[in-house]
Amino acid sequence: LNNGLALTPTMGWLHWERFMCNIDCAKDPDNCISEKLFMAMADMMVKDGWKDAGYEFVCIDDCWPSFERDAQGRMQADPVRFPGGIKKLADYVHSKGLKLGIYADVGRKTCGGYPGSLGYYETDAQTFADWEVDLLKFDGCYMDRTLIAEGYVNMSIALNKTGRSIVYSCEWPLYDWKVEMPDYPAIRDTCNHWRNYYDVYDSWQSVKYILDWTADHQDILVPVAGPGGWNDPDMLVIGNYGLSFAQQESQMALWAMMAAPLIMSNDLRDIDPRSKEVLQNKHIIAINQDSLGMQGYRTTQVNFFELWERRLSKNRLAIAILNNYEIGYPREFLISSSPTWKYCTKVCNVTQILPTYQELGIQTPTTNLTVKVKPSGTALLIIAPLNKASWDMDKKTLKK
Ligand code: GLA
Ligand code: GLA
Repeated sequence: LNNGLALTPTMGWLHWERFMCNIDCAKDPDNCISEKLFMAMADMMVKDGWKDAGYEFVCIDDCWPSFERDAQGRMQADPVRFPGGIKKLADYVHSKGLKLGIYADVGRKTCGGYPGSLGYYETDAQTFADWEVDLLKFDGCYMDRTLIAEGYVNMSIALNKTGRSIVYSCEWPLYDWKVEMPDYPAIRDTCNHWRNYYDVYDSWQSVKYILDWTADHQDILVPVAGPGGWNDPDMLVIGNYGLSFAQQESQMALWAMMAAPLIMSNDLRDIDPRSKEVLQNKHIIAINQDSLGMQGYRTTQVNFFELWERRLSKNRLAIAILNNYEIGYPREFLISSSPTWKYCTKVCNVTQILPTYQELGIQTPTTNLTVKVKPSGTALLIIAPLNKASWDMDKKTLKK
């Protein structure tokens, strides 16, 4: 969407995967969906370096509204869990130098059964703008399939009409794929990012399904991504219960390769320092936020290694080497056996980002440099061919 927003993938925090629809504030006051939770996360984002690392949006997902609209037909927050209302919460989040995201649904109800926006797009867009919300995640439950496209487009127009800058996060293609191939050019014109595939769970299997699905559809997905519009493979679940540290590094590395929004869902008040280090790794974030805005893709499998590449600004390439052999010890990978290495026709400068940061210096095409990759872990490298000629011919290869 050409609204001047999301020129690089959105970075922030969203409550859904970790906190879901926990509305029992009597029993679980610190973890229920309430203004207190979002204020606490905003505090942590500033205090613990998240904001400095680039994470900017604090986002509310489902289960925030009251079941009743007010006399003017406007949505209202649940009065018990959000006694100050959303405007006050937005003020608080803004006072920390952060932005606030909210959630609604294109249909009659949200996926959790709360009021949907169908019939109220303009009212809801204006309400969110009046509250000074900065991002809208717009879900697609309880909607007649034939009206989905129109609904997402109309909400985009309604948001634009408010005059407020609101990042528009859609789930349009996810609901379309269930029936037919989505109209990606239209989606790109309408949304700043869009979910294509099922919800992420707190498990490696779920992360792996999303990666495989994305790679299997990369010929369709990769060309539509770019500044202002991104494929959204869903939240980072790093720092929760389900992923090993190697798998956490893999999710971070591959979400960076996919130019995905980096939207964490975890508990910033209680996160392992190693998870924090992965999420705040400035070299991985720099790949994700690269100004060229080209999404990476899977190139091939070499034995049990799965290889991805992403073109970066300044004539550089990122290579991710995922070890799919989920058994044993760190396996050695010869970097010159990556198809991407063909771009190093004379000399290139190599930087290793994972497993540890290391300048590997100038290498030649016949280098025997190797990197060790843990089971279900990922090695991440940046290569900068120092000879321009080889680079220009790549464009052809990339188009295929
Ligand atoms: C859908 C979305 C999720 C989340 C839930 C909330 O499943 O895909 O990301 O927003 O609804 O109910
Ligand atoms: C396809 C190919 C990749 C790469 C991309 C570029 O997905 O499989 O090797 O060329 O296109 O978009």
